[in-house]
Amino acid sequence: MSFPYKHVLLVGATAGIGKAMAHRLVQEGVKVTAVGRRQDRLDEFVTTHGANKTSAERVDIADSNAMPKFAAEYIPISDDTSITSLFQSTIINLAEPAKWDMQAIHNDVSVNFTSFVNLTHAFLPFLLNKRSKTSLIYTTSHLAYIPAAGLSGYSASKAALSSFILCLREEPRNSSIKVIEVSLPVLTFLGELHDYMGPAGRELGMPVSDFTDAAFAGLAAGKDEVLVDDLADAGTAVEKLSQTVGERRSACNGLSKMLRGGKD
Ligand SMILES: NC(=O)c1ccc[n+]([C@@H]2O[C@H](COP(=O)([O-])OP(=O)(O)OC[C@H]3O[C@@H](n4cnc5c(N)ncnc54)[C@H](OP(=O)(O)O)[C@@H]3O)[C@@H](O)[C@H]2O)c1
Repeated sequence: MSFPYKHVLLVGATAGIGKAMAHRLVQEGVKVTAVGRRQDRLDEFVTTHGANKTSAERVDIADSNAMPKFAAEYIPISDDTSITSLFQSTIINLAEPAKWDMQAIHNDVSVNFTSFVNLTHAFLPFLLNKRSKTSLIYTTSHLAYIPAAGLSGYSASKAALSSFILCLREEPRNSSIKVIEVSLPVLTFLGELHDYMGPAGRELGMPVSDFTDAAFAGLAAGKDEVLVDDLADAGTAVEKLSQTVGERRSACNGLSKMLRGGKD
């Protein structure tokens, strides 16, 4: 199988994983519309690859009021599927309530979860009307399943997004929209996610090129759950995780069917 989508709207394409995936997709012949807030980086992306293969939209997806306008302006000029790849993470020691940054915790949930619900809501009518294959691709984290103390807001926001993805596969069912979750471990790279740790933060985990290879292979193979493994730990942790994810999905399917009165 090959990557089935011709045009991808990629949120979070100005840094880290999103930037790496954006470049990879262009190399694979996919047209990419990059989304982010930093105009200079969006311009650089289009300049690097050319306006016939790429375009860019400067949007703050945390601004819920901007989403309907963004979709309304973007949809008439596009023929798209969407990849979403974005994050907000805050380190908080729950043992010290006096130091909790409440604004930061709410921000994690708002950017990582609420903004994607808003984005999905704004684009769903367009995607539902499309006859060609289309998809919503969300980036989560293994922390959605195994939360990390210290990253409570981030872990909870990814768990919420992962639950939302499961529900979105049930309703609407039998549509032409494929709802895909790409879940990943910690990556080593150019990204800014672990900058709070200082220089060591950029040396953690899996190399980004291994991630883009694995994520692209999973997407091209038509998977709707792409659990990217840390190659240093290949075949062990991810196998257990796959089992947990599979059991959760089948329980969700069963519960949803029961709530539909047993209808398929
Ligand atoms: N890095 C890891 O080890 C790791 C591990 C597991 C999961 N993930 C997941 O992978 C995804 C990407 O992570 P990353 O490490 O690549 O992050 P990153 O390097 O910080 O990049 C985040 C991207 O999101 C954009 N962005 C942030 N807030 C935005 C907003 N309000 N509106 C529009 N764009 C916004 C940023 O662009 P602007 O600043 O230009 O807006 C940037 O392009 C996230 O979903 C993250 O949770 C990462």
